[in-house]
Amino acid sequence: MKGDNRTIEEDYMEAEGIDGIQVHKGLVGVYVDDSLISFIDGENGKLFYRGYAVQDLVKKSTFEEVAYLLLFGQLPTKSQLEDFKAQLIKERNIPDNVLRILQSFPRNTTRIELLRTAISALSLYDPDDYDYSEEANIRKGIRIIAKMPTLIAFAHRIQTNQPLVEPSNELSHAGNYYYMMTGLKPVKDFVDAFDKVLICHADHSINASTFSCRVTVSTLSDLYSGITSAIGTLRGPLHGGANEAIMKALTYDVKKNENVIPWAEERLQKKLKIMGFGHRVYKTWDPRAIIMRELAKKFYDAYKKGERFDPITETGHDHTHDDYIFEMTEILKDFMIEKKGIYPNVDLYSAGLLHSLGIPMALYTPLFAAARSVGWVAHALEQLADNKLIRPRLCYRGELGKEYVDLSAR
Ligand SMILES: CC(C)(COP(=O)(O)OP(=O)(O)OC[C@H]1O[C@@H](n2cnc3c(N)ncnc32)[C@H](O)[C@@H]1OP(=O)(O)O)[C@@H](O)C(=O)NCCC(=O)NCCS
Repeated sequence: MKGDNRTIEEDYMEAEGIDGIQVHKGLVGVYVDDSLISFIDGENGKLFYRGYAVQDLVKKSTFEEVAYLLLFGQLPTKSQLEDFKAQLIKERNIPDNVLRILQSFPRNTTRIELLRTAISALSLYDPDDYDYSEEANIRKGIRIIAKMPTLIAFAHRIQTNQPLVEPSNELSHAGNYYYMMTGLKPVKDFVDAFDKVLICHADHSINASTFSCRVTVSTLSDLYSGITSAIGTLRGPLHGGANEAIMKALTYDVKKNENVIPWAEERLQKKLKIMGFGHRVYKTWDPRAIIMRELAKKFYDAYKKGERFDPITETGHDHTHDDYIFEMTEILKDFMIEKKGIYPNVDLYSAGLLHSLGIPMALYTPLFAAARSVGWVAHALEQLADNKLIRPRLCYRGELGKEYVDLSAR
């Protein structure tokens, strides 16, 4: 029987000899498993992939090398890296039937919805089919990582009535991705910066999308279902959708430096979030935000000095606010730290940087997904290597034993 201030679950737990229930809303601070993939030091603002500081990897490595590291647990040798790159290049094309599906989507659909649906469709054409062995899952994972940029670029160019740009075998993962989106052979500075954006987004321990990927594969469902769940979870503005949301706000609502603080004050007064700030784990600067800020500043400084080379003409890039975006994010950053003690996260500056690189806003969140696909695959493999069904409990606070009333009598 339920006592006055007690829940039914508590009564059950007592009957089972378990003392009390602690509800961890939002799973704050809950560890759900052990992992060897990445570590976030939230107090000191540090992030490590397989033990390597992300700043070091950004400085010295490439996306392909980081992807190998995250998937296989160690940095590749020269020949392992060459082989891995060749596998990624070989898998860049997408099946004709999936292309036809992309062409059939309604216009003006968000690109992240297109990506979610396309990944789900892609599973039907994977040559490893219903082989769920680890070896097959690695092959599937490499295909997913390799094909994501193609799916995103094709979906976007179809939606904007631009001719498709076939993948190039000559370019790196970042270079080819950039080329397929924009149709332009990318300049070195742009590709280097884009590569670093991808590295910074490649993994982040058990964030919401990675958690949903792990939950899905923990039922022994397939890898594509795990990635599809993850993309759906990433889409929300409290997670990967934050980059697009803050850029939309700055571009369409704020518009000018002098509007930043009144706009932010009004949002805070209404108890609304400001996207691109705050984090569940970091209590200080997100190290990825520091990296993105440095890069965004580099492009901003060049732009201010009139040195900025801008090859982007056909991407639908809106240049109206180019000279304001970095300044606006700086004003917002100072305001949020001073007023609320809340620091920028990766999304604030990645949005500004992607803007400088001429990448259309609609592609910011899909781009996050394409990079994070590496982390999702690594986590799915880790989950499956020592699987335990992820199935937490909820504390039921409703009534029991209600009498059913016939429809005619309600
Ligand atoms: C990421 C996020 C969901 C983490 O949230 P969380 O750990 O659940 O923390 P909460 O949302 O409970 O926030 C704690 C407090 O800080 C405030 N806060 C946190 N982030 C904020 C933001 N971006 N803007 C305004 N206030 C914020 C909350 O309003 C809350 O204040 P209160 O205690 O007075 O109610 C949250 O910071 C957020 O919504 N950020 C904006 C979305 C975003 O950029 N997401 C990308 C993350 S990489």
